[in-house]
Amino acid sequence: MLSWDEFNQEEGISVPSSDTEKMITAAAAPIQTETVAPVNALAKELTGDGPVKTTAQKAANYENHLNTADEKKNADALQKAINDLAKLDIVVGTGELEGAATRVAVDDKRMINCRADLNQLVPFKYDWAWQKYLDGCANHWMPQEVNMNADISLWKDPNGLTEDERLIVKRNLGFFSTADSLVANNLVLAVYRLITNPECRQYILRQAFEEAIHTHAYQYCIESLAMDEGEIFNMYHEVPSVAKKASWGLKYTQALSDPSFNTGTLEADRDLLKNLIAFYCCLEGIFFYCGFTQILSMGRRNKMTGTSEQFQYILRDESMHLNFGIDMINQIKLENPQLWTDEMKEQATQMILQATQLEIEYARDTMPRGVLGMNAAMMEEYLQFIANRRLVQIGLPEQFQGIANPFPWMSEIMDLRKEKNFFETRVIEYQTGGALSWD
Ligand SMILES: [Fe+2]
Ligand SMILES: [Fe+2]
Repeated sequence: MLSWDEFNQEEGISVPSSDTEKMITAAAAPIQTETVAPVNALAKELTGDGPVKTTAQKAANYENHLNTADEKKNADALQKAINDLAKLDIVVGTGELEGAATRVAVDDKRMINCRADLNQLVPFKYDWAWQKYLDGCANHWMPQEVNMNADISLWKDPNGLTEDERLIVKRNLGFFSTADSLVANNLVLAVYRLITNPECRQYILRQAFEEAIHTHAYQYCIESLAMDEGEIFNMYHEVPSVAKKASWGLKYTQALSDPSFNTGTLEADRDLLKNLIAFYCCLEGIFFYCGFTQILSMGRRNKMTGTSEQFQYILRDESMHLNFGIDMINQIKLENPQLWTDEMKEQATQMILQATQLEIEYARDTMPRGVLGMNAAMMEEYLQFIANRRLVQIGLPEQFQGIANPFPWMSEIMDLRKEKNFFETRVIEYQTGGALSWD
């Protein structure tokens, strides 16, 4: 317990010179409601209604009253915590999982409908998922690291960019600023719950954070360039070529984000598989590619280099998201061959064809004329090349014959083997745990 002097100093009260003054100061100090009873008793003593005591005795008595009241309160709170803990049921939360009380073996693990304990990360079954989690962490970056000064002066200069180039910047910031939120929502509200494997969930959490960084990056560009935020963020409602892509993706997330949706039937498992194909192969694997190509092409021509660098980092992340999604889809097919029927293959092919068509429409809308050494026809060929790759990656035949890649430099940018050189240009080193001190 504090001495009176310490008490007064703690409360910022000037130290009284006599015992009487100390008593008056103490009586005037703010008192918690729980201490009203002992204070009432003290008041009686101070007014002479109680037994006659010396001032020092009265002060000690007041302190004891406070002590007793506080200690009783604390003891009651502790006892309540102990009583509640005694009633804790340690089986709650794991009860619905078979074998939750035992150690998980590799063979117990499954991508979907797994009954083993999902809180045990190891032993790993899907090393590719864990490796992608590590690779994602090793590629960490933040939008503020990118210098936007050249972009700001170019954007402000009325002769800096052509109208067609400005259209490309605005449309892409409009589309991507919302698309990454759609992807993040789908991950967190639908996919995470339904993928029943901890190493995949670990990567999904990393991916969800990367999507937040991407949305941050677009916002950072929009803010730096002092764009009309209402116009940009509402394009997915107001501009048809953007709105169609967003609606197409949302259609596949609707049922799965319902908390009552569960896998375990053929139909529900197929719905999950379709969701993964829609978001990984189509949204991240096709809908992003016209915009990425346009903005990176701008950067290669020394225009909007900051925005282009942001998109380059994002493209690195996205190509890993895509590869992770393809690994998940193929693993689910392997473990659940009953899902991958001819009808399902036909539906998956149709989804990829529809997505390609929507992206071609987007290319025409964003490039009414030739711009930046490309045009809508070249982009159409590129998107057909991309669609062929997506089909083959999930075990389906190509749909566009005799198609070549008109933008081979895009593959170079995405090539993860060049990653080291790419990141060597960065000046920031992350201080993981650097702020901690044990002193
Ligand atoms: Fe993203
Ligand atoms: Fe992504």
